[in-house]
Amino acid sequence: MSEKIKLSAAMKKQILENMFVKNYKRMWPYVKPVWFRALMTLILAIPVGSMDALIAWAIKPYTDAVMIEQTMQSSWYIPILIIAFTSVQGGLTYMLNYLNTWVGGKITNALKADLFKKLLTFETEFFTSKNSGEILINFNNNADMACSGLLSNLKSFVQKFFSSVSLIVVLFINSWQLALVTTAILICAFLPMAQLKKRLSSAMSGMMSVMATLTTKYTETHAGNRTIISYNLEQYQSNRYINTLHKHFSFQMKVFKKTRWLTPVMHIILSFGIALALWFGSHLILTHQLTAGGFVSFLTALILLYQPLKSIGNTYSSVIMSFWAIERCFTLLDMEPKIKDRANAKEMPGTHQQIKFNNVSFNYLKDVPVLKNINLTVNRGETIAIVGNSGGGKTTLVNLLPRFYDVNSGSITIDDVDIRDFTLKSLRQNISVVFQDNFLFEGTIRENIMLGNENATEEQLQRAIKLAYLDGFLKTLQNGIDTQIGERGVLLSGGQKQRVAIARAFLKNSPILVLDEATSALDNKSEAVVQKAIDNLMHDKTVFVIAHRLSTIRNATKIIVVNDGQIVESGTHDDLLKLECGAYKMLYDMQFKTDNKEAKPQE
Ligand SMILES: Nc1ncnc2c1ncn2[C@@H]1O[C@H](COP(=O)(O)OP(=O)(O)O)[C@@H](O)[C@H]1O
Ligand SMILES: [Mg+2]
Repeated sequence: MSEKIKLSAAMKKQILENMFVKNYKRMWPYVKPVWFRALMTLILAIPVGSMDALIAWAIKPYTDAVMIEQTMQSSWYIPILIIAFTSVQGGLTYMLNYLNTWVGGKITNALKADLFKKLLTFETEFFTSKNSGEILINFNNNADMACSGLLSNLKSFVQKFFSSVSLIVVLFINSWQLALVTTAILICAFLPMAQLKKRLSSAMSGMMSVMATLTTKYTETHAGNRTIISYNLEQYQSNRYINTLHKHFSFQMKVFKKTRWLTPVMHIILSFGIALALWFGSHLILTHQLTAGGFVSFLTALILLYQPLKSIGNTYSSVIMSFWAIERCFTLLDMEPKIKDRANAKEMPGTHQQIKFNNVSFNYLKDVPVLKNINLTVNRGETIAIVGNSGGGKTTLVNLLPRFYDVNSGSITIDDVDIRDFTLKSLRQNISVVFQDNFLFEGTIRENIMLGNENATEEQLQRAIKLAYLDGFLKTLQNGIDTQIGERGVLLSGGQKQRVAIARAFLKNSPILVLDEATSALDNKSEAVVQKAIDNLMHDKTVFVIAHRLSTIRNATKIIVVNDGQIVESGTHDDLLKLECGAYKMLYDMQFKTDNKEAKPQE
């Protein structure tokens, strides 16, 4: 998310004025389905707020009856009324809070659901440019802040506002002169509110980004647990955490300073009001313009008025912060993924004859070319082995095929149709990718395999398990295929995880297969089994295989050598070995020859 461009003072003012309207307008689709209860919440906030005034108002006849007329006859009902009112107010407050929680929960869920759906539309680059904490804060926490501010703060705001207004009415009933003086001061007390939004944004953004880092420290500690233990990084990790905590603290204090000054400033202005009212009120009593009961009632109203006004500043700060969060949420919702379907994208058919890379160039970072003018033609059923130095661009090359990234220039076509003209869904349905480290979801082995095709029959499932060489392993498990495998499949070995992933790819049964060093993270023994599973999977498919194993390479239809982003050689194993001082021959001598000797007995 790009930081907001600097705005002129006039524009800032404009934004401040439009802020309420704009934010509430955007939130409307989320409020709409629950509008009736939302409205009820606000309507209920009016009597709940106003009822404070009734007590203040009732004090006048009571005090005058008891103190001045010295009788109880006319005022026996007052204490009973107070209890009755308080009970009603308590009941209404409960209903109000209930509705508020209900409506708030519904709105938050709807917003979060939309944010999560949005999150799933983003391309690989979006995720590689953000840490896990940022995702969590932006897509979850901000939504909480946005919605809690929207309704519950608005509710307290309305409640406090009406409480104040009705208490001011009581002031007027008792003495209009007094009321006028106090109201003037109250209005002054609200003036500083307009200053609040200034420069809050940068402090809030800073705080959120630090919160994201904090969250990331937890995910790191969870995922990197073994590395932390084996390198004795406990101290290192906790230092980094504590440093971030300190940063968080200072941002917290910054936000505090930028918002909470409002309350004491309002208090001080209000105290002028009270002082003035006391002084002026005493004068009115002494000059017999006000009864003692009237003055007590007036004072009560004034003190009660002080209460909501005291906290209205804080509530307003929260409202402003929630506006900030609302803006953040909608910035995300407005963001268009960079990789998406074109307007007239069509379905990719389930079969293909030829895949072509036409002069493809690609870079992740500006001016740092990673692939340069790649030309490659692959026919149906062929196996293309991609070899080359590490960091040369092999993974990047195959990642362009399912459009994890889009080419910068040139094109990739399938039967002469640019892959960008296919819908993402149909394109990706046609391609299975087996990575070096495949992601497994928390759940059972069965659930993870079925992700390949949720409609697969039991026979298809059993066949996939057999071809992926999982059957023997599953028999050793007490719960068999219904064994839980933990987050990311942590309860399985590397080779077992790969075979679950391969079984998943079997069920998906896509005509194009991409294998990116699918066995290179494994030890020799599990590699041999996984390799056999992969050999089964490759059957009848168009395969792009980034390989480090000679047997795979030798059987390939064509080998391409990708060094520093360019195809430097291509041909069959025998062709390429004939090239004296060729790149492939060098790689072969360095890497594959030894593999040849070791691997031979197993083949
Ligand atoms: N997400 C990324 N952002 C920036 N640079 C990247 C990214 N992924 C890979 N690279 C860089 O692109 C180059 C090619 O990487 P890669 O395709 O993974 O190579 P290979 O698979 O051949 O080892 C490397 O220099 C690598 O540092
Ligand atoms: Mg790679």
